Amino acid sequence: MIDAVGLRKVYRLKKREVVALDGVDLHVRQGEVFGVVGQSGAGKSTLLRCVNLLERPTAGTVRVDGDEVTALRGRRLREARRGIGMVHQHFALLSSRTVAGNVAFPLEIAGVGAAERRRRVAELLDLVGLSDKARAYPAQLSGGQKQRVGIARALAPRPKVLLSDEATSALDPATTTSILELLRELNRELGLTILLITHEMDVIKRICDSAAIMESGHFTESGRVLDLLATPGSRLARSLFPLPATEAPDTVALTYTHASDEPLMSELTRRFDVDVNVLGGAVEDVAGRSVGRLNVQVRGANRAAALDYLSGKGLLVEEVTAR
Ligand SMILES: Nc1ncnc2c1ncn2[C@@H]1O[C@H](COP(=O)(O)OP(=O)(O)O)[C@@H](O)[C@H]1O
Ligand SMILES: [Mg+2]
Repeated sequence: MIDAVGLRKVYRLKKREVVALDGVDLHVRQGEVFGVVGQSGAGKSTLLRCVNLLERPTAGTVRVDGDEVTALRGRRLREARRGIGMVHQHFALLSSRTVAGNVAFPLEIAGVGAAERRRRVAELLDLVGLSDKARAYPAQLSGGQKQRVGIARALAPRPKVLLSDEATSALDPATTTSILELLRELNRELGLTILLITHEMDVIKRICDSAAIMESGHFTESGRVLDLLATPGSRLARSLFPLPATEAPDTVALTYTHASDEPLMSELTRRFDVDVNVLGGAVEDVAGRSVGRLNVQVRGANRAAALDYLSGKGLLVEEVTAR
C-alpha cells in the first residue's frame, strides 16, 4: 500500500544542512498497522510528511496504492493526498468550529453537498463514539475526545491510508489505551492501512503488525513483529520483550510465537537426559499473538542436541550466559 524507496530529505538552513532522512526504504502492506519507533529528532515526522507530500523528499520515490505520488503535481497531487488521512499529536482542530464542523471541513473542501455531508459526519461520529458531542466545541472536550474528532476528520474523505504522528503522546495511559483500541478496530473493520510513528515501544507492542526502528534518518531494523521476535539479536524484539538478566551458567533464552501442545521440557529430559531448570519468563500478547520468552538452564552431555531439538520445533534459542 505504501512503498517508499531511497527516501532522502535534506533541510537547507542558512548556515548548515540537516539530513533528516538518509535513505529510508519503507514497505507497508495493505491492511496492516506499521509502526516506526525512534527517539526525538530521528526523522519520524519528516518521513510521514514525505509520504503524504506535505514535504517533498530531496531524493527517492513514494508510491501509495500504486500511484507514484512523488511524480504528481497540482490537481492530481491534491486528489492523491485525499487518499491519505493524517492524525496529529496536538489534534490540530479548528477551535471556532463544532465537532461536526471540524469533521465536515475536509468534505466541504472536496465539494461534497450539504445533505451528503451531514449523513457522512453522523456516520463518522458514530464510528468514533462521539455522536453526543456533535455540537460541542473542541475546548469543551477531553484530550481523548479531541483525538477522536481528529481521527473522524482524517477518515472523512475515505482515505486508503491513515498516517498517525504520535497520536497518543499527549494523552494519559487510560486514554491512550482507548485510542489505540479505536485505531485497531478501524484497521480491522474498515481494512484501513495505518502507518504510525511513536517514541513508545509499548505502542508498537500493542497494535502493530510490522515495525521499524528509526535512528538518525534511517531504519536500523524493520519487519513483521512476529518475525523480528524470532530473529536472533533483534533489538526491537529485545526491547519489546525484555528478559530479566541472569547469572546462571548454561542458560538459553527460548522464544516461541505459537503455543505448543507438546510437553517440550519433559521431552528434553527424557530424550536427551539433560537437566532443565526454568529460571523465569513471561507470556505476553504481541501483534495479536501469544508470545513466550523463557530463561532456561540446560546442562548435560547432550545439551547441543537438546537445543537443536528445540530449534527444530520452531523455538528461537539464544545463549544468554557463558557456558
Ligand atoms: N522544517 C524543518 N527545517 C529544518 N530542520 C527540520 C525541519 N523539520 C525537521 N527538521 C530537523 O530534521 C530532523 C528530524 O526531525 P523530525 O522529523 O521532526 O524528527 P522526529 O519526528 O523523529 O522527532 C531534526 O534534526 C529536526 O531538527
Ligand atoms: Mg516528530
